[in-house]
Amino acid sequence: QVSDKKNFKHYMLKEIYDQPDIAKYWLEKYLIKDLKTDQFQINYSFDTDFLNSIERIDIVACGTSKHSAMVGKFLLEQFSGIPTNVFFASEFRYSPPPLLCNTLTIGVTQSGETADTIAAISMEIKRRSSIGDRSFKPNLIAITNRVESSIGRQIPNIIDISAGIEIGVAATKTFFAQLLSFYGLAIKFAQIKGSQSNENINQLVLELTKLPGLVEELLEKHNESSEKLAHDFFNIKDVIFLGRGINYPIALEGALKLKEISYINAAGYPAGEMKHGPIALLDKKVPVISIATPGQVFDKVISNAQEAKARDAYLIGVAPQCNGTEIFDYLMTIPSTNEWISPLLAIVPLQLLSYHIASHRGLDVDQPRNLAKSVTVE
Ligand code: G6P
Repeated sequence: QVSDKKNFKHYMLKEIYDQPDIAKYWLEKYLIKDLKTDQFQINYSFDTDFLNSIERIDIVACGTSKHSAMVGKFLLEQFSGIPTNVFFASEFRYSPPPLLCNTLTIGVTQSGETADTIAAISMEIKRRSSIGDRSFKPNLIAITNRVESSIGRQIPNIIDISAGIEIGVAATKTFFAQLLSFYGLAIKFAQIKGSQSNENINQLVLELTKLPGLVEELLEKHNESSEKLAHDFFNIKDVIFLGRGINYPIALEGALKLKEISYINAAGYPAGEMKHGPIALLDKKVPVISIATPGQVFDKVISNAQEAKARDAYLIGVAPQCNGTEIFDYLMTIPSTNEWISPLLAIVPLQLLSYHIASHRGLDVDQPRNLAKSVTVE
């Protein structure tokens, strides 16, 4: 596979711009309308009995893939009603949870080659296979961009995220495509387990179908403005990212993107945890980027932002223009949508901001120091 940089200065920017097409392709490939029932189906070829037997889920992943898995956990628990745990693959290898029956293990790795993830899956297959009781047998799904890879050989049940080759070391479009895969899985489980009404499922599907246009708009709106913002912030030393609920992993991913390519110290926290320590870091020199999307925790995130403002922090909001968001000194507006799909939108301005800060610093955005696209050693 080859990848063309087109007219973009870096692969990373091109890959951020690939995201509307990835959404379009995903909808075409994985969303099917059953004309008899008028219901949407997710075109994953897993056996219904297999999915129906699953009572809990363990997910192993590293880096950005782990952040997608954390959004996945939120969806699988809150939408599909299945208890789910997410593990750093490197930790899982040496302190796996006690074995429970009817567990699905999901390995998430865009490259399909990350040593810790591959080893964690191998270990899980081994320890489950050694138990005679069938309810403890290994049940596995891989979420990957490389079907022909080590994880593809380990696990026959694959969700191919179909993002096309990603060159930039900092993952952007593969993160977006991994998120989509989890939406598909959450819908599939919700249908099989009956954990959501058809109406709720159709509503979520409808929101997903709007994605290509919404992401396109976000790119148009934020590319230049985040370049300007980057101009003011490129020399900053520390940045704090806050989110709650389904967007807490987006705060982590926003911070990881900035660290990886700009070498600026950045940390993501669940906004409610600020008062238990991180708030001590705040002053005029530490901008706080807060993801505030309308829904269950919107008011809470705004009041956490107020606490940061009271400590003189410069507040950047990733939020729609709505009541409450006037608190932000700078607003990266995102459309006001159903809360479930908000991570797929909130991540886009954060990717652009990190990109422009690193580019402004004159750094090698596609090949950041000390990092590799896939880490095949422990
Ligand atoms: C490396 C890359 C990260 C990536 C992680 C997991 O550390 O630098 O960007 O998120 O590996 O990669 P995977 O291929 O398993 O998703």
